[in-house]
Amino acid sequence: MSKKIAQPIPKKLFVGFNWKMNPPTLFEAKKLFDIYTLYNFQRADRGLAGLLPVLFVPILFLTYLQSHNPSSLLIGSQDISDQESGAFTGQVSGQMLSSIDCKYALIAHSETRRDFKLKEKVIKNKILQSLASQITPIVCLSFNSIENAKKELMLKLENTFDIELVEAIKSKAKSNFGSRQQPIFIIALEPIACIGTGQILDNKEIYKQLAVIDTFLQSLNLNKSLDQVNGDQIGDYISLYGGSVNKDNIGELCKCPNVDGFLLGGASLIEDQIQAIFGQEN
Ligand code: PGA
Repeated sequence: MSKKIAQPIPKKLFVGFNWKMNPPTLFEAKKLFDIYTLYNFQRADRGLAGLLPVLFVPILFLTYLQSHNPSSLLIGSQDISDQESGAFTGQVSGQMLSSIDCKYALIAHSETRRDFKLKEKVIKNKILQSLASQITPIVCLSFNSIENAKKELMLKLENTFDIELVEAIKSKAKSNFGSRQQPIFIIALEPIACIGTGQILDNKEIYKQLAVIDTFLQSLNLNKSLDQVNGDQIGDYISLYGGSVNKDNIGELCKCPNVDGFLLGGASLIEDQIQAIFGQEN
């Protein structure tokens, strides 16, 4: 196992570990989960609080791991239905998730968008269902080409953040949403070319694309949370970057001033990676 520790993480970070459709069995899921709880306990022993790790596990494993969770690790869902309840075979509602104390849900990950051909209206309704259940939605915004990134992002933003959604967010901001220990929503910037490929955007480019999103959201009076991880009454959202983030590049990537955290896919399945990422905390 590598003992290499890259640059320490200089600020408070939300780190979403997205297992995607892995591992293949409950037995292996338990083993993987044990690795997280071990390193999380070690962090707690050292009094570290700079990282907010949230595991996004397959829905089949979610209930099991949640009810056999010896640690304070948070477990989120990889998806959520756009409907409240009823005849929607195969779907999982916000109320069901919140009944097992799930506090975060990924929405419209680029793989989900692609595989289920999600329309923006469905995405918006998933966000609304999530908010209604006191679950912080992580709204994934992908783009295909760096040349057209602004156009692609703006199209998605304009079609998703309509008046109804903005009002729902604003009303949550006035309520005690999840006791405001969490941001009302989270944006995840995901360049398709970087997902699972080993390529990353440089900090200048990440900054530029997140600034496009911030400018749009500010025009709707939605503000970035100043406390990067705990929503803390200060703002409405935080911003993540996702795409080939690992133990060797996370220290550099988190120097990007408008990045509040990351979504990790491949690295979330590897012990060496998990250990090093948990160990980089100041
Ligand atoms: P990756 O996945 O880390 O394997 O590139 C990231 C993601 O899908 O968000």
